Amino acid sequence: MQAGLARSPRRISPKFFYDAAGSRLFDRICELPEYYPTRTELRILGECAGEIAGQIGPNAEIVEFGAGSLTKVRLLLDALDSPKRYLPIDISGEHLEAAAQRLKADYPELVVQPIAADYTMPLVLPAPVAGAGRRVGFFPGSTIGNFEPEEALAFLQLAARMLRGGGLLIGVDLVKDPGRLHAAYNDAQGVTADFNLNLLRRANAELDADFDLDGFAHAAFYNAPRQRIEMHLVSRSAQSVSLNGETFGFEEGETIHTEYSHKFTVEGLRALAVRAGFRPGAVWTDPEKLFSVHWLVA
Ligand code: AVI
Repeated sequence: MQAGLARSPRRISPKFFYDAAGSRLFDRICELPEYYPTRTELRILGECAGEIAGQIGPNAEIVEFGAGSLTKVRLLLDALDSPKRYLPIDISGEHLEAAAQRLKADYPELVVQPIAADYTMPLVLPAPVAGAGRRVGFFPGSTIGNFEPEEALAFLQLAARMLRGGGLLIGVDLVKDPGRLHAAYNDAQGVTADFNLNLLRRANAELDADFDLDGFAHAAFYNAPRQRIEMHLVSRSAQSVSLNGETFGFEEGETIHTEYSHKFTVEGLRALAVRAGFRPGAVWTDPEKLFSVHWLVA
């Protein structure tokens, strides 16, 4: 965090959003009336589960990247024909272990093997269990949109290698009316603002910083040429902040960039998948074409 703040323009990586308080705030975002991605993806997964399961085939092994609380995968597991094993990968080992125990209790036939790791790094998966069908990656939530474009390509390349012979099921938010996007990242209750400002709260608690939370404002806007929402924290006045003994001066209006949330066209995502080594298969969307779920053959 400290190195990013020293850069010009200043930035904090979005991976710092998800401490316990940030994860709770993100769960609240997913419930907001303006934040359509979560409920739209759940609707697509629910309504198209049979077709999705048909593409995946029997006895599959599901590898979830950045698994979190393991809710979306249940829709998939319920539709699949005899899924063999589930390998959720998440950096937060404790949270993952607890969620894996709950899942195991509900799916007694399924082998659940949580892996505490950074899924953007190369990683050797355990050998397939006897009689396993396809190895299928699951990457819902349009988290791919939070990567820089080159990181998104690198992640897909890694996934294509890891899943060779199987495929990737990925949820991707679509380009749409900027007003709709703006509302989703500037909700009326201010939960997204609080999620953004939580980065400063976290720096104060963990990095001996003295950010004045009232001294920074949440800003989120759609950058149409780049097809992305950009989130920033804007300094409301000239001020200085100390962090781990280092002093950072802010001009009035100076921003800390905190997140990109890229939006895709269906064709754009398919073209990116081809560059990464996948063969794009079926795509499912909602009637309003807000969100998409893609089957990519590895
Ligand atoms: C996790 N990720 C896909 C969310 C998004 O929409 O980019 C994070 C988020 N940021 C603000 N609201 C939600």
